[in-house]
Amino acid sequence: MEVLPCKSRADAVALTAKLIGARLEATPDMVLGLATGRTMEEVYDHLATGGARFDRCTTFNLDEYVGLPPEDPQSYASYMADHLFDRVDIDSARTHLPDGMATDLGQAARDYEARIAAAGGIDLQLLGIGAAGHIGFNEPLSAFRSRTRDKILTPTTRDQNAGMFGGDAARVPKRALTMGVGTILDSRELILLACGAAKAQVIARAVEGPLTSRVSASAIQLHPACKVILDDEAAAALEDIAYYRFVCANEEKWNAYRSHL
Ligand code: GLP
Repeated sequence: MEVLPCKSRADAVALTAKLIGARLEATPDMVLGLATGRTMEEVYDHLATGGARFDRCTTFNLDEYVGLPPEDPQSYASYMADHLFDRVDIDSARTHLPDGMATDLGQAARDYEARIAAAGGIDLQLLGIGAAGHIGFNEPLSAFRSRTRDKILTPTTRDQNAGMFGGDAARVPKRALTMGVGTILDSRELILLACGAAKAQVIARAVEGPLTSRVSASAIQLHPACKVILDDEAAAALEDIAYYRFVCANEEKWNAYRSHL
């Protein structure tokens, strides 16, 4: 794992967008795994305003609420349209989200796994982190080898996401279809972005804490190509931060991105 502590939230977002942009430029037909949440809105804004080309890439989103049709403004399908897909040259036929409206959620989950496999797997998966320690909607005790399936959301998650539902946690759906931890770990590369003081403790548990399904994000420690991009606030509880900064300062490959670190 590489921890990249950035000077500010704006720098963390810019670095994330630049790394994604560089991958898209190098491999225009890549398979990109996408995430939602407020943090990602800024990344997508950077990519859209920066003119990143998406015309040949295929995307798979981590998750979708159960029971919200794609046209519902609170669905992740709408989120993606608003923040990215309607703003870039992506072919909508190559964008994928789990079908949270399926009558058979188990079948929808298996279909989603099959679509990812048919696309050749995910080259780069973008991740946020929830207050409950989730990646995607893998709430506590999600098996590290889990695949796409429906999960019941924790009260913590529903509170955290209430902002997108008029501040009313009761309006946040109770379930979501999410890639499993195992699905995420199968991606060839991971980039987890977290910003803000509210994420500091959960980031410390994910990055430095013991591997535990209570914090599904701790599973990133098992991945051989995982970057964790943080702003100063989200990095604040890391014990070995001085070492991570030392590594960054001495890695030549980060010279091009030095202004953000
Ligand atoms: C939702 C998504 C997660 C994401 C989280 C972060 O819960 N399902 O994949 O990590 O939001 O949200 P925010 O960026 O708003 O803190």
